[in-house]
Amino acid sequence: MDLTDKLNRPLRDLRISVTDRCNFRCRYCMPVEVFGAGYSFLPRKEILRFDEIERIAKRFVKLGVRKLRLTGGEPLLRRDLAELVSKLAKIEGVDDIAMTTNATLLEKHAADLKAAGLHRVTVSLDALDADVFGKMNGVGASSDKVVAGIDAALSAGLGVKVNAVIKRGINDTEVLALAEFARSRAISMRYIEYMDTGNVNGWKLGEVVPSHELLEILLKEIPLTKATRIAGETAQRYEITEGPGFEIGFISSVTKPFCSACNRARLSADGKIFTCLFASQGMDIKNILRDGASDEEIDALLEQNWSNRADNYSEQRSSLTEDLPKAEMSYLGG
Ligand code: GTP
Ligand code: 5AD
Ligand code: SF4
Ligand code: SF4
Repeated sequence: MDLTDKLNRPLRDLRISVTDRCNFRCRYCMPVEVFGAGYSFLPRKEILRFDEIERIAKRFVKLGVRKLRLTGGEPLLRRDLAELVSKLAKIEGVDDIAMTTNATLLEKHAADLKAAGLHRVTVSLDALDADVFGKMNGVGASSDKVVAGIDAALSAGLGVKVNAVIKRGINDTEVLALAEFARSRAISMRYIEYMDTGNVNGWKLGEVVPSHELLEILLKEIPLTKATRIAGETAQRYEITEGPGFEIGFISSVTKPFCSACNRARLSADGKIFTCLFASQGMDIKNILRDGASDEEIDALLEQNWSNRADNYSEQRSSLTEDLPKAEMSYLGG
């Protein structure tokens, strides 16, 4: 029988964070005042090895997971990541292996990742304009490397989606340019409502641009029709009839939460399992593994953890939930 949680949701996706480090300092994720030179990242011995990640992923697949996604921090900062991809690609029952990346290092790695068995990448790109992008990424980087990474991924035969978090007054001027960029490459462009993740990004409701506002802007220039939503999908997609590839998606966790179909578990780089992006604590699996637990013992723990899950943070979101302690997104992997 299918494993379901307390709200009758199956387990289908596992998001695996491979590092809590990043070469960007996007304000909505790793504000530089907090993640500066003095910040203590996870020590190496606390970080799961590839064989440990592979073992945990296998147990999750046994329990119903069909989709794996590598995240960070920035996953490409982890050395030899393609080796992990090839281990994961060999697990029977996995339909989809993706990676969320800022793509600054993708040009170098795209072909190897594809050869190792990666299916697709989702690239975070919040603006094309150099000044606006520099402000968003917090380190003044221009979008050139990211665009080169996207093009290398396309040449290597990887599927590509682009994600942009839109903040009012900062990069809301880039919405159409990003859509035209995605259209020129026949790929998916998704706009994400800025979320109150973690406790340090200084989130304010007034900085969120609701998706319906963006849809109105886009509809003036691009004829879009609403697509049918696939179960568990974060985005509401809109299609255009000009051919396959280009589409627009909105991830509206603030104005239209999608918890009721949420089938995602998250594994942090230090081996904790989180059943919600907004959870404060995860269940340790690394030490259990390192203490010699059997597959059966691990399965029993994972099953129990999912069966007891009742998370629906985005549906509860209010002034009361904003200040609850939450794990940081760069640690948890978005
Ligand atoms: P696809 O498999 O391509 O549909 O990717 P995805 O949307 O599941 O993952 P991605 O890493 O592209 O995430 C896009 C945005 O949605 C990011 O801002 C994530 O933090 C956010 N997101 C992903 N999963 C969840 C979730 O379960 N809850 C909430 N609230 N946000 C999520
Ligand atoms: N709100 C919305 N999306 C966020 N991301 C990181 N922090 C936030 C936030 N506070 C996005 C990144 C990336 C994905 C993993 O999560 O831009 O696309
Ligand atoms: Fe790095 Fe992605 Fe966070 Fe930006 S959103 S700081 S690129 S992990
Ligand atoms: Fe899932 Fe939590 Fe996001 Fe709701 S807020 S969709 S339960 S991860």
